[in-house]
Amino acid sequence: MKRFLSVLLVLLWSATATAQDQHSYAQLERISTPHLELDLVVDFEQKQVRGTAEYRLQRHQAATALTLDTSELTVTAAEIKVAGKWQATTFTLAEAHPSLGSKLTIEVGTEATEVRIHYASAPTASGLQWLSPAQTAGKQHPFMFSQSQPIHARSWIPIQDTPALRLTYNAKVRTKPGLRVVMSADNSLEPEPSGSYEFSMPQPIPPYLIAIAAGDLEVKSISANVAVFAEAYILADAAWEFADTPAMIETTEAMYGPYRWDRYDLLILPPSFPFGGMENPRLSFITPTVIAKDRSLVNLIAHELAHSWSGNLVTNATWRDLWINEGFTSYVENRIMEELFGVERAQMELALGYQDLLADLESLDPADTIMHIDIGLRHPDEVFSQVPYVKGQLFLVYLEQQFGRQLFDQFLKQYFADWAFKSITTAQIRAYLIEHLLEPNPGKVSVAKLDEWLYQPGLPTDAPQPSSDAFEQVERQMQIWLKGGQLRTADWTTHEWLHFINNLPLDISAVNMARLDREFGLTQSNNNEIAHAWLKLSIIKKYQPARERLRDYLLTIGRNKLVAPLYRELAKNPADLSWARAVYEQAKTGYHPLTQTVNQAILYPQGEAQ
Ligand code: BES
Ligand code: ZN
Repeated sequence: MKRFLSVLLVLLWSATATAQDQHSYAQLERISTPHLELDLVVDFEQKQVRGTAEYRLQRHQAATALTLDTSELTVTAAEIKVAGKWQATTFTLAEAHPSLGSKLTIEVGTEATEVRIHYASAPTASGLQWLSPAQTAGKQHPFMFSQSQPIHARSWIPIQDTPALRLTYNAKVRTKPGLRVVMSADNSLEPEPSGSYEFSMPQPIPPYLIAIAAGDLEVKSISANVAVFAEAYILADAAWEFADTPAMIETTEAMYGPYRWDRYDLLILPPSFPFGGMENPRLSFITPTVIAKDRSLVNLIAHELAHSWSGNLVTNATWRDLWINEGFTSYVENRIMEELFGVERAQMELALGYQDLLADLESLDPADTIMHIDIGLRHPDEVFSQVPYVKGQLFLVYLEQQFGRQLFDQFLKQYFADWAFKSITTAQIRAYLIEHLLEPNPGKVSVAKLDEWLYQPGLPTDAPQPSSDAFEQVERQMQIWLKGGQLRTADWTTHEWLHFINNLPLDISAVNMARLDREFGLTQSNNNEIAHAWLKLSIIKKYQPARERLRDYLLTIGRNKLVAPLYRELAKNPADLSWARAVYEQAKTGYHPLTQTVNQAILYPQGEAQ
């Protein structure tokens, strides 16, 4: 009977709004933590963040224990506040699960209103990267930054690390005098020479949006509410490259409602930053690899900014629902690009994304091409692909086409207002779509079609198939060129070059590779996306003149999307693999933990050390 009841409860539970997040030990339904006070030291000598995390407790059920997520943390003490007084309490740190880390259980009795944990992070924390002065551009000062999404906040803060939680936070942070500390909070444009900073994030955010960085940072304003933080060497270039950011904010507000986060600043990270960008609220973290000096890759800014609505305002409740963050954001990103730079550019960017998706759909296990993906207990980083991004985006493009842009825009604006500061599951958004889009506009999209998009692998047969007139021109030119004619590339943008290189026939001759390189200097391209596409082709074609550039590229860039496909290509034959391992061994101390984990697995699939 008891067994039956618990099975029933689990069934009921999984059918309700807050489906359990399999990637967290938090039990929000018992006790949640709506506010956090951090008091931290960022210690570069020990590569350690240490101090206290203090939570306000909100009790929902009778419970005497608070469970938190941790990963490689050392916990030295726990206290609870009972009747206004702090007292020591007991805690247990469970054995670590390989992808989830260790459950921290703290006895909080029935009366405690707050809890305080004394802890320190490990030098190997998966959510932090520590750079020595020599690894920075300025060479004088060290640098550190966090990347908490998806489940790495727990490696530097003991926390209920599930995006179903929302919490506000304040932080006191001390570091080496002369360094600047910034967080996903109310950064001041004035530095504190003492190295002692205070922050406040008054809007409730999910834990994966808590972010910190410290380094020799300077700041340059772009407008009254937009500034760039960066090391001096790239500050002016970054401010120029991203000068359209204020216009992007205005455009997005006009389409989807007010920007709810006060300032919007950009932090330019060292080139080892493992992503293109990360939408930390009020302060997007941005790779320097998109600073191409021609603003050709600024869709990244449109993307991270778009997350201020899709993701940060309305948040995926679990990592199975990541498409709710990334699909909506990719859609909004492309709408911003269309508004500011025209349909042709937006169309090209959508078509490039579609090609990347098709490649992923070919190589992935079909089960992992479902939008509401079953991750099981795999690490969410392990199932990262274009599916939540581009399949999610195509789903919204499809809805836009079926219902018309005007109606769909109104729907989206209302969705962001209705779900602001809430976390949402796929089941909840399904119900919302039915109630607010499908039912009021009958005969356009069936519930069965909706379910096909959400719960079936691959793409529906009537999915949009984005193409671009400009790309068709490129393909015609390519045919002429392959027969010995001239390429007319004078008006080609980065996008046309990417389409050209990515679609060259794989039997292209060595002579033609050399001819391309001679005429267009592709091996030496300063555009990191073009260089990536060309270097990948050079591996496939064994085009040796690109080798030194490839080595240099792998040694200086750590953005995983630019690096992993190159190692993957190199790993396909033994000679290249041993060359790649040698480069990797040299590069890895400069790589972020994520880039190390992913590429280590590519180069040493059997797990051998050398
Ligand atoms: N939030 C993501 C990065 C992310 C996703 C980190 C999931 C960890 C887990 C960020 O907004 C992103 O999508 N970045 C892309 C930008 C691109 C699509 C324009 C990137 O880094 O390539
Ligand atoms: Zn994103």
